[in-house]
Amino acid sequence: MSVKVLIAGGAGYIGSHTASLLAERGYEPVIYDNMSTGHAWAVRGDLIKGDIGDRRLLSAVLDDTRPVAIMHFAGKILVGESMERPELYYANNVAGSIVLLELALERGIPVIFSSSAAVYGTPEKVPIAEDSPLRPESVYGETKLVVERALEWCARLRGLRYVSLRYFNAAGASPSGRLGELHVPETHLIPLCLHAVMGLREKLVVFGDDYPTPDGTCIRDYIHVDDLAEAHILALEHLLAGRESRVYNLGSEKGYSNLEVIKAVGKVVGREVPWEMGQRRPGDPPVLLASSERIRSELGWKPRYGLEEMIGHAWNFLRAHEALAKKLYSGK
Ligand code: UFG
Repeated sequence: MSVKVLIAGGAGYIGSHTASLLAERGYEPVIYDNMSTGHAWAVRGDLIKGDIGDRRLLSAVLDDTRPVAIMHFAGKILVGESMERPELYYANNVAGSIVLLELALERGIPVIFSSSAAVYGTPEKVPIAEDSPLRPESVYGETKLVVERALEWCARLRGLRYVSLRYFNAAGASPSGRLGELHVPETHLIPLCLHAVMGLREKLVVFGDDYPTPDGTCIRDYIHVDDLAEAHILALEHLLAGRESRVYNLGSEKGYSNLEVIKAVGKVVGREVPWEMGQRRPGDPPVLLASSERIRSELGWKPRYGLEEMIGHAWNFLRAHEALAKKLYSGK
């Protein structure tokens, strides 16, 4: 009999890669997605269109499919938008997640939650460990933290079991080029560099070179989306083995400045990225770097891919989807 895992947000970037890896490993992913930002081409197998906040539909789906776990990727992810429309982020990322959590609790289903490095805000020291102060500086980060706290209390008081995964900078695509990142709007550095190379935008604007870093630009910790997917499988197997709820960082523990990323993109694709220096973007911490020691030692997770592979896979994906990308980003 197949072992089903419900993937809320499984038509999105990280969710679709994880669903694909689950299928490869013999699980049966059931995709539940409201398709607000997901892509039908990224879904293989059954897709149920629905909101995480739709209690009636989600409970019927859970009763019907009886998954062994729920992976919850269904979040709004734009930091800037969250500062303009906080209510949208509270409605989807908090209220929606609480419905999902209640239904999981009622049925004794463990939850794997997509959290973010945004829960830390500007760190006092790097690398950032899981027990660092949690001081989000955006509504987006705050909504992730609210859900983490709800999970923690429900675990402590009601026996819910969960793993919360705090992603640093997700990047890359499946090595085959089938799955990858096509966010509208796109706000992330690596895809924006590639869009500039492909002519989908005139150039990349680098947000400031007056940070306290060696070249003055911000430093981030990029992690391949398939390494994130692998961590979800390890978290699933941890919970299925009956082990305790945990919170884990997911980063490569290597930092690259924005100028280093631009240079690496130029090297991998064999063409210079058109770019210019611009102003700081409000809310960007100078350095974000994970300590992933906890998940490495407890679950044996080890990222496979480095920066150049992330860029190479993302470039293969974009080239394979050039016509679609042109349609999605024309005039944007
Ligand atoms: N950047 C530019 N120009 C751009 C876009 C980005 O210079 O056009 C810079 C940013 O200023 C930053 C770096 O590239 O220094 C990385 O920016 P991203 O937008 O790719 O990623 P962030 O580090 O801002 O955001 C990531 C996740 C968020 C999460 C955040 C945690 O995408 O979901 O980390 O702080 F909230």
